[in-house]
Amino acid sequence: DVMREVLGLKDLEAAIKQKLHIEKAIVVAGDSDLSPWVKKEMGRACVTCMKKRLKNGDIVAVTGGTTMAAVAEMMTPDAKLNDLLFVPARGGLGENVENQANTICAKMAEKALGNYRLLHVPDHLSREAYESLIEEPAVKEMLELIKSCRMVVHGIGDAITMAERRKTRKEDMEKIKARHAVAEAFGYYFNEKGEVVHKVKTVGIQLEDLPHVEHVIAVAGGASKAKAIQAYMKRAPHSILITDEGAAKALLGE
Ligand code: G3H
Repeated sequence: DVMREVLGLKDLEAAIKQKLHIEKAIVVAGDSDLSPWVKKEMGRACVTCMKKRLKNGDIVAVTGGTTMAAVAEMMTPDAKLNDLLFVPARGGLGENVENQANTICAKMAEKALGNYRLLHVPDHLSREAYESLIEEPAVKEMLELIKSCRMVVHGIGDAITMAERRKTRKEDMEKIKARHAVAEAFGYYFNEKGEVVHKVKTVGIQLEDLPHVEHVIAVAGGASKAKAIQAYMKRAPHSILITDEGAAKALLGE
């Protein structure tokens, strides 16, 4: 850790914790907006953080996105952790397949030599279809597994970037803009104060479930996400934040 001291990352972590009123922050060198390898470094830091907290038999719920894809890519097996189950945190959010929670969950499990279960819920279901789907025994069983997770690992996105990347309906897009959403995490959109201004209706982990999950890890970096991170972390003071120097410095106004 001498290197981290030399780079001033420890000081950045302390400053971020104080600024965001959170319990733990990990900052990696660089800015993932500028250098793609920085996302992998966040992924590596996240894997270390996960392994420190996991024990055999644990269920880990993961979300989608490019940052979570980097976490999956950096995952490695652990001799002491040979019985982990990975599940997607929530159903479809309109992402392309490479960014979907199911894809990332399967990849992470494969790299960890763990098991996985997937959740197949189409986007934009009608109310009737949604209600009958969640009564299906196989879906119900899966939702119970997801809700019993001991760890959630998720990304945080810039609201407009995320709404545009997903197949967001015109009326929802207008709502997201009119209500000044700045952050997105697992299908929820938040304003600067951290208030929910829009939510993609889907099954799985809901925002109100998070306080009951033992370990919640948020992974997001790049100066362009500073505002989003600041807004979202108002909702999640007990979450561990894994970020990069670019986001940390932008957050601190440096
Ligand atoms: O769910 C997606 C995240 O909120 C952000 O995605 O890691 O690709 O920026 P990203």
